[in-house]
Amino acid sequence: MKKLLWIIPVAALAVALVFMFIPTTLTAAEEEEMDLLHSSERGCTSCHRVVERNGQTFDYTLYAEVKNLPEHPSIKKERVEEEGVLYCLMCHEDMGEKSFKKLLHPIHYFSEHFHGNCFSCHDISDEGEFVLWDQVHQGS
Ligand code: HEC
Ligand code: HEC
Ligand code: HEC
Repeated sequence: MKKLLWIIPVAALAVALVFMFIPTTLTAAEEEEMDLLHSSERGCTSCHRVVERNGQTFDYTLYAEVKNLPEHPSIKKERVEEEGVLYCLMCHEDMGEKSFKKLLHPIHYFSEHFHGNCFSCHDISDEGEFVLWDQVHQGS
């Protein structure tokens, strides 16, 4: 019986090692899951960006989306890249039926290609109101 006592320090060491290595051996997927805010999946440019798929390149940037609209007035590419949706809102904040608060919800929610949710675009302000994620987190 006494001979088996060597097991105690060995077991303690094993337990210590397990605890030391657990945090560093998390897989990327597990780390993603721990990001409760899902920051990398939020804001317009989490979807509206250049995407590589099967060796092909697709330009889904906001600038490209607007270029596809036949009647749209011309807009500056650099400003879209720098300011994102805040640039669009200079005109689209208060534009009657073409205000973004009226236009952007049906555009996305009636599309079979859209798999996001309210919080893909929004955050909730300290006052409890829907604000744009890009308005709060731009540049961060
Ligand atoms: C979760 C992904 C996702 C996010 C986030 C997102 N979009 Fe989109 N958006 C889409 C998809 C998918 C479409 C394509 C809809 C279609 O063509 O059926 C789209 C289409 C559009 C279009 C094109 C409309 C048209 O008539 O061609 C505009 C403009 C647009 N989005 C603006 C925005 C803006 C501005 C934001 C941020 C406030 C945003 N989107 C956030 C996925 C997203
Ligand atoms: C200089 C002002 C201005 C800016 C900046 C602007 N828009 Fe517009 N947008 C307009 C006007 C004017 C219309 C209405 C003309 C039309 O129907 O195309 C419009 C219409 C639209 C429409 C509706 C198109 C339709 O078929 O009726 C979408 C979607 C849109 N804009 C997206 C965007 C996005 C995304 C951005 C930012 C990347 C943007 N706009 C920036 C002026 C602007
Ligand atoms: C594709 C992006 C997108 C998605 C998804 C989206 N919104 Fe929005 N939402 C916007 C934009 C852009 C505005 C206009 C912001 C502005 O005018 O300043 C807006 C405006 C609003 C406003 C008005 C806020 C204000 O201060 O004027 C409310 C409320 C709102 N959204 C609720 C929702 C809810 C609820 C959902 C989910 C069911 C949702 N949104 C999903 C983009 C989105």
